[in-house]
Amino acid sequence: MMRVFLVLMASWLFAPVVMGASSTYPLDPMAPDLNDKASLQRGLQTFMNYCFGCHSLQYQRYKRTAEDLGIPEDLMLEHIVFDPDVRIGELMKNAMSPDASKNWFGAPPPDLTLHTQLKGGPDWLYTYMRTFYIDESRPFGVNNLVFENVGMPHVLMDLQGIQRKGCRQIPKLAKNGGEMMDPLTHEYITEEKCGQDLLDRGYAPLALEEGSGKLSPEEYDQVIYDLTNFLYYTGDPSRQDRERIGVYVILFLAFFYVFARLLGREYEKEYH
Ligand code: HEC
Repeated sequence: MMRVFLVLMASWLFAPVVMGASSTYPLDPMAPDLNDKASLQRGLQTFMNYCFGCHSLQYQRYKRTAEDLGIPEDLMLEHIVFDPDVRIGELMKNAMSPDASKNWFGAPPPDLTLHTQLKGGPDWLYTYMRTFYIDESRPFGVNNLVFENVGMPHVLMDLQGIQRKGCRQIPKLAKNGGEMMDPLTHEYITEEKCGQDLLDRGYAPLALEEGSGKLSPEEYDQVIYDLTNFLYYTGDPSRQDRERIGVYVILFLAFFYVFARLLGREYEKEYH
């Protein structure tokens, strides 16, 4: 009995350490916004164009997605689904066979419906999709800061551009800890920092080759924000309904309270 207890205690104590070990890279925060339908629609489009070939959303139906995102069914079939054999009520599965893909990539691409619920939340996905870098020793020539030795190619490289681990120019710190600025030009006075020093100062240790991507860094971040927002939605499609109903329940209780209170007063009068 004591032994079981000790093992349980130990696993509880060390669980955070073990879980944390999978990624030591600090995640960039990402606040999902399920009311932003345009963002969710763009995220769905990016997913279908760039991810669905390998990753399914097997717990999500096209129909439900179209309804929740405010996309008319015919437009959904025409522009998002592509495959004429697929009907709107079907689950969003793809044709990739797990065995074949295991051979190609070393690991099969997991289903992503619940990913933001299972692993590190939306922050993890948002950071993961922005931290691929060139690593010639890997089969696809890229590695990733939050998922070391990942078996997935950087499928959005032509949008983001080429990132390398290396050094970059960041603002020099003054003695008081503030970032140094030229008083005349109001430009930062910079110095070159590399690797851990960059991380310590809160900068990603990756440098983007200028002009190597189709999108600017801000545009690319937006694409990944939308994609993450969409996959946050698929993780729990009823979240918004629940929140809306929750508001009604609170309103009802507040409303009911007034009458309960008035009735209580009437009763009180009786026994004085
Ligand atoms: C060419 C196939 C392919 C495409 C396209 C692809 N992936 Fe992957 N992805 C993989 C494979 C294979 C893995 C498993 C890697 C591993 O476990 O080493 C993976 C892993 C992942 C993981 C990590 C899963 C985990 O275990 O936590 C995420 C998240 C992910 N992919 C997201 C995406 C997104 C988002 C897109 C679209 C922008 C995308 N992938 C496109 C093949 C692909």
